[in-house]
Formats: sequence, C-alpha cells, structure tokens
Amino acid sequence: MVRSKQHEGRAEKRRILYLASEMMPLVKTGGLADVAGALPKALKELKHDVCALLPKYEAIERGKWRTRVVFKSFPVRLGNTVYKVGIERCYAITGIELYLLDYPAFYHRPHLYGYHDDALRFALLCRTALELSKAICFQPDVIHCNDWQTGLVPAYLNTTNLHDGFFLRTATVFTIHNLGYQGNFTPALLSDVGLPWETFSIEGVEFYGHFSFMKAGLYYSDMLTTVSPRYAQEIQTKEFGEGFHGLLSTRSNELVGILNGVDYDFWNPKTDKMIPVNYDASTVDMKRKNKAHLQEQLGLPVDEQKPVIGIVSRLAWQKGFDLLIEAADELLSKHDLQLVILGAGEERYESAFIDLAKAYPTKVGARIGVYDEPLAHLIYAGSDMFLMPSRYEPCGLGQMISLRYGTLPIVHYTGGLIDTVKEVDEETGNGFGFHKFEAREMLSAIEKALSIYNNKPQLWRKAMLNAMGCDYSWKHSASEYERIYEMAIQRRINKLGVE
Ligand code: ADP
Ligand code: GLC
Repeated sequence: MVRSKQHEGRAEKRRILYLASEMMPLVKTGGLADVAGALPKALKELKHDVCALLPKYEAIERGKWRTRVVFKSFPVRLGNTVYKVGIERCYAITGIELYLLDYPAFYHRPHLYGYHDDALRFALLCRTALELSKAICFQPDVIHCNDWQTGLVPAYLNTTNLHDGFFLRTATVFTIHNLGYQGNFTPALLSDVGLPWETFSIEGVEFYGHFSFMKAGLYYSDMLTTVSPRYAQEIQTKEFGEGFHGLLSTRSNELVGILNGVDYDFWNPKTDKMIPVNYDASTVDMKRKNKAHLQEQLGLPVDEQKPVIGIVSRLAWQKGFDLLIEAADELLSKHDLQLVILGAGEERYESAFIDLAKAYPTKVGARIGVYDEPLAHLIYAGSDMFLMPSRYEPCGLGQMISLRYGTLPIVHYTGGLIDTVKEVDEETGNGFGFHKFEAREMLSAIEKALSIYNNKPQLWRKAMLNAMGCDYSWKHSASEYERIYEMAIQRRINKLGVE
C-alpha cells in the first residue's frame, strides 16, 4: 500500500510505528503509559500516520473499547517456535491505528511485568510488530521503541532483518524512560527469541554477562532519546548510568533529552470530570473546595485552611520515600499539616505508610496498594503541595500535573525535576526543592513551603499562578521528536546506502 508522504510545506509526513508496553487510556502502571497515550496523538496532530501495537493484558477492560478481530490466528515465529496470536484493531485512541496482540497464555495475568518468561512475552511483542507491519502494509519510516520491553526491535532490524526489503528504509528511535529497569536475562534465551549467537557481544546485546533487552535498544537504534535534557546528561555519568554510561557517552551525539509533555485534554482542572469542583487560574480560590472532598474521602478532619501535602506514586526505591519515612515523626509532630498518600509497590513502603496512617489518624490519610485514577485526580486538585523526593527521576509527570492544578511541587532536584521545578523566591518560581538526598534537607524544603503557605499568602498565590501558567503540553516536544525521526532516517540511509 502506498501512502502519501508530502504534507503542506513542512516536515515530511512520516509513517511511525509506536511501540510501548503500556498505554493510556487502556492500561497503566506509571508515566510511560501517559506518554504512550499522548505522544502518538500529538504526532497525529502534526499529520503523521501513527500505528501502535499493545499486548492485550488482563487489565484492559473487556467490552469497554470498541475492537474488531483482524487476524484470528496470525503466525509469528520466535526461534524454533511459531506462536499463533490473535490481532485486534482497537478504537480507543482517535486517529491512531492501534492493534492489540492477543495471546492469553502470555498476557492474561494479574500484572504486566515480573514473570519468569518476560523475555519471551516481550520478544513476542517486538516480533509481532514487525510481522504485523508487513501483513497490514504499514511500511514504517520510523519505529519508535520505548524502554526495554521493545528493545529487540532495533536488534532484529539490524541483524535478522538487515536485508529485509520491507524494512530497508525503516529507522529506529529508542526512548529511555528509566534506565533502572533493564530486562536482563540469561543468554541461553537468545535462540528462543530468534537472535543469532553473534549478537551476544559487547558490540551487541551482551551486558555484564547477561542478554539485555535495554542494551539491544541502546546499541542498535539509529537515535536515542530520553525524557528530559537533564537525565540525558546524567545517564552519561557513572552515578546515574546504571552500567550504560560508557555506551551512552560514546553515543552522546545520537542521544537527545526531550522533556515529556502532559496530556492537558486529560489533566486540566477546568474540565476534569474526576474532580468535584472545576477551576482555573481565574477561579483558583475554588481549588480548596476539592481539599474538603479529599479530606472527607480519606477520613481526615475537614479544614480548608490546613496545608495538605499530596503523594501519588509507585512505591519503589527510585521514588526516595525512605527520606519521608525517616523524617515523618518530626514532620508530623512538629507541624500542623495533613499528608495524603496514594501509592502501590514495594511491601516495605506500603507497610510503613499504613503504619504512619495508624499512628497519626488525624494527620495522615493513606490509600495503599491500589491504583486509583479518580483519587489521583482529587489529590492533584485538593492538595496544596505535592511531594516527590525521588533518588533519580528521568522526567516525572507527577510534578508537571500538580503544577497544572496549582499544587506546588516539593522535589529532590534531580533529572526532569530540575528541568521543570523552579524554586519559589520573592517574585518567581513554581515550587520547592532540595539538592542533597537527605531527610534533613527534605524537611527544610517542606518547612520553607509551609512557612510561605502560612505567612505569605500573596506570594503563595503568585507561585500557584506561575505553576498553572507553565506550559508542559506535548506541542513543543512532539516537534522535537519529528526532528529526531528525520535524523534517524538520515542515519539509516547513510548506514545502508539506500535512497
Ligand atoms: P513513574 O512513571 O516513574 O511512575 P511519573 O511521575 O512519570 O512516574 O508518572 C506517574 C504516573 O502514574 C502519574 O500519572 C501518576 O498520577 C500515576 N500514578 C502513580 N501511582 C498511582 C496510583 N496508585 N494510582 C493512580 N495513579 C498513579
Ligand atoms: C519513567 C520514569 C519517569 C518518567 C516516565 C515517563 O517511568 O520513572 O520519570 O516520567 O517514565 O517517561
């Protein structure tokens, strides 16, 4: 099928195959899903053709989205095994040609990740993406891969499919959302996923004796991006590079940090249907009505004046809540405030926060171990401050969402948090932060925020308006990706000598 390439006087219209392992509004465990749900839409608005493929997980609500079976039994070969998968077209995101990969034995499970056969589960996603492109005649100019789950696509295109005429002009872009999750497996699996043994080398998928999906993406892609300019610099250092800093420094000319955007269709206090009282910068006083609903919902005393610090997060080591656990008694016994926590993840954090809520029933409201989209919206809208003491943070969406809702972030200055939060001073700024990853430092930042909230209401209001006025929409970032796609295409052309 020939699809037209030209569009009015600007960058060429491209065919983009977008691959990620989670995608809003269908399925989400973190910010990757927000990005994967929003960037394809923004690219579509720039007039590109976007196609996407997502596993049909158990968590995708059956019957909620309009779907149509395209292939009942579509053969996909991985090594010596042929998997017969189902392919469905799903109409959940307007304008995006989205397909679901149906293979219940792999994806019909309570969680998205963390299984013994994850290598095969995500190799199947990668391989199917290539086979499906052919079957539906969607010849991509670019395959945009995200995180380790999609890392084998660039490896296939540069090894098993190097001379495959269909993909001769297909470039790959690999976006790092989090270098901490690498998809490292035993090299014995190489043949099972259909990669030649020669790829198990430093110049290939080998990573400290493992077969690494992340390494595959980082090594074979034409261009690399990550989700903030600061993280792009950080990951070239030993401290943040998670073992990949050598490779990333060598590829620094092909590595670009592009700040994530926020989908303001979905995250907008003026139109948000999940919050009780809508508001914008001109009606910002209405915001505190949401606080009363939040307090009520979490069983806290209702008091619209009381400063409320919100948290919505995966409860993982990365997120730095050890600092809060260490400082909690001092913070809660010394200060008149409320803390609301929505999060799920590691046992040790979950139980620490449950215990904290028991110890301070009038000060701490916790909803732990659940993923709750409406409550997340209410926390962004109803809190005064939003805490993210992350050890590292590639971009972070929580702080950008809270800014939009006039809820001032308090952050550890790292990664994307540096790129988006500016310290409140007498005139400017939209939040608060601390540099050294220490409980004492975090406490000081919170105390500064509380002191301005309590004693300088005019300054607080100004900072809220600054926050709400920040523009972290996808518009700018999507055109940055356009530029990267062109660079990737050029690199592929140079590499293979095709025109
Ligand atoms: P990460 O992707 O590292 O988890 P981000 O800040 O980029 O961090 O994105 C987190 C996203 O997940 C935000 O949209 C946040 O609101 C959402 N989120 C995290 N935990 C929960 C939860 N328990 N319930 C609802 N939303 C959550
Ligand atoms: C990852 C990162 C987070 C980022 C998100 C979306 O989960 O931890 O910082 O915002 O991906 O790119």
